[in-house]
Amino acid sequence: MGALEEIKARVNIVDLIGRYVALKPAGKNYKARCPFHPDDTPSLMVSPEKGLWHCFGCGAGGDAISFLMRIEHLTFAEALAKLAQELGIELRAGGEGKTRLFQVNLEALRFFQRELRGPAGEKARAYLLSRGINESLWEKWGLGYSPSAWDALLRALSRFGVQTLLDLGLVVMGERGPYDRFRHRLIFPIRDEQGRVVAFAGRAFEGEPKYLNTPNTPLFTKGTVLYGLDLAKEAIRRKGRAVIVEGYTDVISLHAAGIEEAVASMGTSLTADQARLLARYTEEVVIAYDRDAAGEASSLRGMFILHAAGLRVRVASFPPEEDPDSFVRKAGRKAVEEVLAQAQPFHEFFLHALASRHDLSRMEGKEALLREAQGFWPEIKSSVLKLEIIHGFSNLLGLPPEEVQEALRGVSRPVPRAEEKGEPSLTPEDLVVKFLLEGKVPERVVAELLAEEGRFCPVYREVVRRWAERWAEGQLPDAAALISGLSPEAAARVSRLLLLELKVANEGQALEEALMRFLYIPRLTERMEEVKLAIKDAEERGDSEAVRRLTLEFQRLCRQRLELLRRR
Ligand code: CTP
Ligand code: MN
Repeated sequence: MGALEEIKARVNIVDLIGRYVALKPAGKNYKARCPFHPDDTPSLMVSPEKGLWHCFGCGAGGDAISFLMRIEHLTFAEALAKLAQELGIELRAGGEGKTRLFQVNLEALRFFQRELRGPAGEKARAYLLSRGINESLWEKWGLGYSPSAWDALLRALSRFGVQTLLDLGLVVMGERGPYDRFRHRLIFPIRDEQGRVVAFAGRAFEGEPKYLNTPNTPLFTKGTVLYGLDLAKEAIRRKGRAVIVEGYTDVISLHAAGIEEAVASMGTSLTADQARLLARYTEEVVIAYDRDAAGEASSLRGMFILHAAGLRVRVASFPPEEDPDSFVRKAGRKAVEEVLAQAQPFHEFFLHALASRHDLSRMEGKEALLREAQGFWPEIKSSVLKLEIIHGFSNLLGLPPEEVQEALRGVSRPVPRAEEKGEPSLTPEDLVVKFLLEGKVPERVVAELLAEEGRFCPVYREVVRRWAERWAEGQLPDAAALISGLSPEAAARVSRLLLLELKVANEGQALEEALMRFLYIPRLTERMEEVKLAIKDAEERGDSEAVRRLTLEFQRLCRQRLELLRRR
């Protein structure tokens, strides 16, 4: 067991939280007044069984380590060190231990690089070349290949000892012994800003999950590293800006085209740590995320996180359906530079993102928009920016600026009433995620959900991915394992989900209903929209055969939808 796992296994969350607040037993859980907001009823709940806590008043939550971080204002490493000391566990994160661990990661990288060039790497080489990633880029980015065997790396690096390989997340402990985490995958080393290999990402050639990552280790905490920063930092300083994208391949292709100030947040939820890291090198950041709905929500979130770190933020819009990688390949450097130059400033993107989600021809739509904007208002620190936004809304909505300002300021939102007393308000998406994490979704449906992970909001997407990684390895992951390493907001949302007791008579039916509203109906509706467009297109082309075929298809979809709606 690594030190981190040992700490998590041995720390008693009830004792720990009980040092700070008076816990009272409540069923199999404990309750207390929440120390993180003025709380006159006990809204904080602690589950010893799940190793989690959550406040149903203010929404904070997480595991033992996150509680300690928050209440003592510690970093993850500091909280860990404190717990380790109390439990008498030796953390091998001291200078000497770390140097050795970096050395082992480097050896692992060399192994993956050798394999890419060897006989087993043929498919990986062909794949890279087919995506336009040529040999000079393999070298620059340290790309590699992990062979299919269960123990290729394990044997190659056995001289360092199994425990070290487990600590680094290179090897996983199964029921029948340790085995390689990365098998038959393309390997992207993740390096810190000094260029040291802290973790690996493995991309599948087909199948799920698409990317498998090193878990948190003594060298790597998720959400604290930006992919490519080691190679981008000089260009970021020189150009006075950073471009932040989602994926590894986006960074590699942008650099290859000469846009060397690109870094990736690796997935979609940018963290405050990553923002602070960037703020050490520049004052301006352009967000260039994918343009799907999830991408837009992440851009909005990311924008606020960067703004809070004191950065000037703009959001670039590549054509829909393109990511920076595909776009730079098709259109070249100049086109990308143009898109970046036209990136929308914070207030414009904020206005447009909100406007696109509401029907502004109706008063209800305008009110809904202002209500949504109000939720973000306290997070906007700059008063100049606030003025810009007020004027923008005023123009957009045809309302006097004073009225907009009043609506945005609102009355400061009261802490929501403790949720447990009333019915918990769970969206269909909440329910689907809750059932999924609790292992109550049939396998066939799990596969469907994973294939459409883009439907989940960014926070849930990350959780679902983590869950799926472990699920793919044949384990039903426990709550604490899913939560550690999530951003505080994400951990809070997940702990809430897992601790809420559902009061439904028939869980199967509740799941079916939630799936209907979250997945089946939206999917059908989208398909119908596509077919409608295709019909229009075929009509314009005068292709009456296609019109006939598509119309039949449309009618079939209509019937399916009706049937679904009737089943509810
Ligand atoms: N990601 C992840 N786990 C997944 C899927 C995605 O960690 N199961 C992260 C990776 O950092 C990935 C980024 O999210 O680079 C963007 O995801 P995606 O757009 O799906 O992948 P790309 O990097 O664009 O990969 P490719 O170009 O090969 O499709
Ligand atoms: Mn992508």
